[in-house]
Amino acid sequence: MTKLFLKTNRTLSAILSNYKYSTAAKSVAAVQIKGKEFISDDYTNVTPKILSYLGKNLHLQKNNPLSIVRQRIVNYFYSSFTHRGHPSFSIYDNLSPIVTTKQNFDDLLIPSDHPSRVKSDCYYINRDTLLRAHMTAHQSELLRSGLDNFLMIGDVYRRDEIDSTHFPVFHQVDAVRSQRKEELFPGKPDLEIFEPSFDVNNPHMFINSIDDPMKQSCHTLEATKLMETQLKSHLIGLTKVLFGDSIKYRWVDAYFPFTHPSWELEIYYENKWMEVLGCGIVRNEILVNAGPSNTIAYAFGLGLERLAMALYKIPDIRLMWSTDTGFLTQFENIDLNASVTYKPVSSYPQCTNDMSFWLPPNLTVDTFMSNDFYDLVRDVGGDIIEQVKLKDKFVHPKSKKHSLCYSIIYRHLERTLTQAEVNQIHKEIEKAVVDAFGVAIR
Ligand code: PHE
Repeated sequence: MTKLFLKTNRTLSAILSNYKYSTAAKSVAAVQIKGKEFISDDYTNVTPKILSYLGKNLHLQKNNPLSIVRQRIVNYFYSSFTHRGHPSFSIYDNLSPIVTTKQNFDDLLIPSDHPSRVKSDCYYINRDTLLRAHMTAHQSELLRSGLDNFLMIGDVYRRDEIDSTHFPVFHQVDAVRSQRKEELFPGKPDLEIFEPSFDVNNPHMFINSIDDPMKQSCHTLEATKLMETQLKSHLIGLTKVLFGDSIKYRWVDAYFPFTHPSWELEIYYENKWMEVLGCGIVRNEILVNAGPSNTIAYAFGLGLERLAMALYKIPDIRLMWSTDTGFLTQFENIDLNASVTYKPVSSYPQCTNDMSFWLPPNLTVDTFMSNDFYDLVRDVGGDIIEQVKLKDKFVHPKSKKHSLCYSIIYRHLERTLTQAEVNQIHKEIEKAVVDAFGVAIR
């Protein structure tokens, strides 16, 4: 999964490039989505293929492994946190994935030049509207509506490379848990959430700093530490419910624009550390802007695909989208907590075809946008595209022409593909790549 919000140094070319992605959506002035019309502009890069995933709601489909993991997570939060016999958390699992840049970024203090906003990483409907890149996009509006403890569950969209663990649509569970002074420190009136210089009645007067790695400047150390302890123990509790008590895990310091301090949880799975969630203490500005100025909150976001793939040993992320009964019946009416191991229905052979092309004079091997290429390959090839890998970059010593070579690996999950049929699709992709990027096939 792309570390969308980490302070990694994304390639400068990705940020500076002014490259225009040309798809069917670009040539029309409006994009129709579920009967609603959106005016397209130079940001529009959603494709008909991507739009076809909207409303599939795999996380709500009975028998889908994502839905089973969702139910287990919801049950954990329902049963662990109750108030006078009622669950404290409310669940939002059917919010529209079409959000504004304000919801996805601005409300979460993501700066206007932050790399996570670039066109090459998000699916924009137009300059102001996109398919949410994370469920955190709904955090502010739900806080504004007066909620304090809630889960947001749904499909999120990111442009990314293609392989067995990456798909441009995946599913996340995000959460917020807020506490007032009396809840955080019951029976301890001397303990405070806020430093004396922060006035809950005049919250906008305070300039909140995150220079101290331990805490936000508005919070007391004891409030931050107690929230951190709760956050970590709630999430380890969940991890143990899912994977068993002997699961190996570790906490890693992280950075997100909307939390401070922030952490990631990694679990040890198949001889590797695997990141499963991001979390932290919600930046106080977000709470204040959305309403409550007397609470402290934690938030986290986890990816359902990763958990489901690890729990049930599902080897390819595309299987989540399978409508094949050989797949779905393995998760039919199972006891939620049953340990199920996916049995491959059968594994059909792969076909690998290479594609080499000369770039037009305005592009170099470093400015060519691989994510544009991946989207186009998937648009034309559909779900039989298992993987696309950059194989070679080449600059001709005399002509100085730039050339790229990609390997495209084709595999159908439910039948054997013939080489002839793969060649045909490969040719169609070549044609589309020539049209879209002005390259010359070698
Ligand atoms: N939205 C973050 C992501 O998608 C995860 C996250 C959620 C981190 C809430 C901290 C708090 O990577």
